[in-house]
Amino acid sequence: MTAGTQFRPAGPLRGGYTPPADKSISHRAALIGAMCDEPVPVRNFLDSEDTRSTLDAVMTLGAGVEEEEDDCVLIRGVGLHAPLEATGGLLDVGNAGTLMRLLPGWLAGQPGGVWTLDGDSSIRRRPVDRVAEPLRRMGATVDAREGRFPPFTVRGAELTGIEYELPVASAQVKSCVLIAGMMAAGSTTVVEPSASRDHTERLLRRARVSFERDGPRITVSQVDELELEEIVVPGDPSSAAFVVAAAILVRGSRVVVKDVGLNWTRTGFLRIAERMGAVIVGDLEEPGTEADREPAGELDVVSGPLEATVVEPDEAPLAIDELTLVALLGAYAEGETVVRGAEELRLKESDRIAGVVEGLRGLGADIESTPDGFAVRGDGSPLRGGTIQANGDHRMAMLGAVAGLASAEGVEVVGMDAAAVSYPGFEQDLRSLL
Ligand code: S3P
Repeated sequence: MTAGTQFRPAGPLRGGYTPPADKSISHRAALIGAMCDEPVPVRNFLDSEDTRSTLDAVMTLGAGVEEEEDDCVLIRGVGLHAPLEATGGLLDVGNAGTLMRLLPGWLAGQPGGVWTLDGDSSIRRRPVDRVAEPLRRMGATVDAREGRFPPFTVRGAELTGIEYELPVASAQVKSCVLIAGMMAAGSTTVVEPSASRDHTERLLRRARVSFERDGPRITVSQVDELELEEIVVPGDPSSAAFVVAAAILVRGSRVVVKDVGLNWTRTGFLRIAERMGAVIVGDLEEPGTEADREPAGELDVVSGPLEATVVEPDEAPLAIDELTLVALLGAYAEGETVVRGAEELRLKESDRIAGVVEGLRGLGADIESTPDGFAVRGDGSPLRGGTIQANGDHRMAMLGAVAGLASAEGVEVVGMDAAAVSYPGFEQDLRSLL
């Protein structure tokens, strides 16, 4: 068995800290940059395994990628309606769910093109029927293994606009349909059951694509070409959330997080943590804001005693990648913390409901799964500690590390290297604050 990485109970975290660039926005910058006619410089592009998969995919399709100094990547696009290369070829998405679900939206609108998408063993258990169905309705052909899993093949076509009600609040599916909608005759409307991250809409608005929003309905019309000036990627609030959680849990901590994205569709975790009693001072964007820029700023986080809370289904998509951290905070809070409407967690890089319940229980938490989330009871005392399996999931690895710092006896994380999918410098950043 592989030896794990030890995270021992630690003294306070203190100091200033800049999180890595946003993964969701970096994926979109590379993909939408590749759809532009003119080169697009992307500053502070995230250098991680996941975003490398996206750069490789757009290069396979014919786009140019030039890595310049200071984390700047220049994307030389091929245009929205390009005769994309490597028809009949294989596109390897690695571990990247966002790439797997956004890219087919573009491919579907290329008449005559045929591509097969595949990835690692985690990707092969993640459903793609959620994008296949709307793309088929628009006119593309999508064939997936067992009807719903990768590898899957996309055959592009002349698309027709549709109205599509998302069965789940998913930014990836919304983005896929909106991207295909830009190439479809007429207009395409996506109806969201509740708000999810809106980076695609913001970036496309900057590329002069007009969206009409009417409550949960977002409509896009056909466009000929995209034009984007420089993109500056802010820090990733989901990556920062692990350090924020450590600062909240380890007594005496105070961390100032710099240049972090404060888009309201990504700050659900901060609002939940504040409700639980954490002291977080920052200029969070007003919920409901529609913009074409990504707000960024500072967060001042201080540790403090926590109380239990309930996360309702509407709030879950706004904190989807941080809900396992809510479980960890819940284990340290007085009372019962419940997360509802989060069944999507079962379909992430690993089954995060099973993973967090087994993982935290193994560290001494009183936690159980529910059909759509979990319930965890705490009395304000620290978890004992033990061993936690990352199961190849970057966010589970980082969760284990944070749990270790806040535990009584330390935590061994088996599979810590998974963190490199989104946050290669995680361990170093965390340890530098101790
Ligand atoms: C993402 C959306 C979310 C999130 C994922 C990244 C994105 O997935 O969990 O890590 O970049 O659009 P869903 O859209 O499937 O909820």
